[in-house]
Amino acid sequence: MSALDERDLAAAADLLSDASRIAVMTGAGISAESGVPTFRGAGGFWRGRSAMDLATPQAFNRDPEDVWKFYRYRIDGLSRVEPNAGHRALVSLERRCERFWLITQNVDGLHHAAGSERVIELHGTLAEVRCRVCAYRCPSSELPDDPVPGCPSCGDLLRPAVVWFGEDLPRAALAEADEAMAHCEVMLVVGTSGLVEPAASFARWARSRGASIVEVNLETTPISSVADVSVFGPAGEVLPRIVG
Ligand code: OAD
Repeated sequence: MSALDERDLAAAADLLSDASRIAVMTGAGISAESGVPTFRGAGGFWRGRSAMDLATPQAFNRDPEDVWKFYRYRIDGLSRVEPNAGHRALVSLERRCERFWLITQNVDGLHHAAGSERVIELHGTLAEVRCRVCAYRCPSSELPDDPVPGCPSCGDLLRPAVVWFGEDLPRAALAEADEAMAHCEVMLVVGTSGLVEPAASFARWARSRGASIVEVNLETTPISSVADVSVFGPAGEVLPRIVG
């Protein structure tokens, strides 16, 4: 890994320290240093299959046992991971901002675990499971051991409380994200490939409403073209240095 660019770090730190209304959007990259696999790139495979082929309602309808194996692996994995310095830096940022929104595409719960107070979970959470049909929900820790767990309330199937490809995002989370885009002075985008809508459009949207955009990623993404500054490096190293 090459050294961080000091000029980019300083430019990002200046933009953030001048702002009191900040929106942050995070993706899988912020949790990579905690050991949570990303979706794309080398970490995005499970037993040789793309995570993207398993995170769909069609896959679940076709073979719920197969999809549950993948999700049990992911849920079990979470008990062994901890927030890293990147997650913790965002807790400090929240504490000093007048208004702060943390929008995450991650389902790993690591922002909560780090101490972030309000987290807008666009893609749901692995911490809970829910019925495919009725309103039943329970913590993943109470998930029955069956290969295809049934709903204790209506008898249909339980599924992870995450958003799969092709499904609608939670309306309340989208409304909060909309508010963030409308009111933030700076939007900080961390560890997302910027390929999945609508999150991919958030930075453009915030920019069109007058916000400055700061990006933190290992590499160039579609968001880089709208960013005022992109800092290339691991979030766990970069965030503590740009969040005063
Ligand atoms: P991706 O896996 O698509 O992208 C991860 C991004 O993080 C890439 O751009 C990496 O370069 C970057 N990255 C990796 N390690 C990093 C590090 N240590 N520091 C900073 N950046 C790092 O993940 P997302 O963009 O979150 O949706 O993916 C978006 C959505 O697509 C996910 O929420 C999921 C997925 O399919 C659903 O499941 C609906």
